[in-house]
Amino acid sequence: MEGWTLRHILPDDYRTIITTLDDWWGGRQMRDMLPRLFFVHFRPTSFAAEQEGRIVGFLIGFVSQTDPSEAYIHFVGVHPGLRGSGLGRELYETFFKTVSALGCRKVSCVTSPVNKGSIAFHLRMGFTPVESGTRFEGVPVFEGYDGDGQDRVMFIRELPTMGACGPGRGESTPK
Ligand SMILES: CC(C)(COP(=O)(O)OP(=O)(O)OC[C@H]1O[C@@H](n2cnc3c(N)ncnc32)[C@H](O)[C@@H]1OP(=O)(O)O)[C@@H](O)C(=O)NCCC(=O)NCCS
Repeated sequence: MEGWTLRHILPDDYRTIITTLDDWWGGRQMRDMLPRLFFVHFRPTSFAAEQEGRIVGFLIGFVSQTDPSEAYIHFVGVHPGLRGSGLGRELYETFFKTVSALGCRKVSCVTSPVNKGSIAFHLRMGFTPVESGTRFEGVPVFEGYDGDGQDRVMFIRELPTMGACGPGRGESTPK
């Protein structure tokens, strides 16, 4: 614990987060990829970290509607001043615990091949890049995955099976 608290995302967080989103991503235009609907319809599996009343980190994720054994992380962001403090890890571990309790056995996500920090973070968090047959600077990439010129690295991570003493459905998340 580093002085922040985690809670579920709220619809009102949308405005706060998109205001800083592009700055947190080093000036890349990201906000169009995070519409308000994520803050309304994915609350049980999405989290905000607060410190002194300010949002300093967030994770937007959900359980796949196509394959309920798979969860997907759409966005994670940590305030630049808090990076390297373990908040990204805590957000991910909270998500893993939450979706495990919902029956998920694996988590996937995609990131841009130019986002070296994100690639390093996901490798440290136990993700494996999915082989694609094409490499960019040593990392497998899916060319045009999100449209022309929008290549992506796909990551997957298995989740440990929840033991008999694990939290029950809906009991694992911060209030
Ligand atoms: C990626 C991001 C969420 C990581 O958050 P963070 O709070 O800095 O990560 P943590 O401090 O919890 O680090 C977790 C592990 O990843 C490693 N890690 C994190 N960022 C890293 C980097 N840039 N390079 C190398 N390793 C890194 C840490 O060393 C740590 O390893 P350890 O726990 O084994 O010691 C944060 O850098 C960020 O918000 N980046 C901009 C937004 C972004 O690119 N999001 C991801 C794509 S959606």
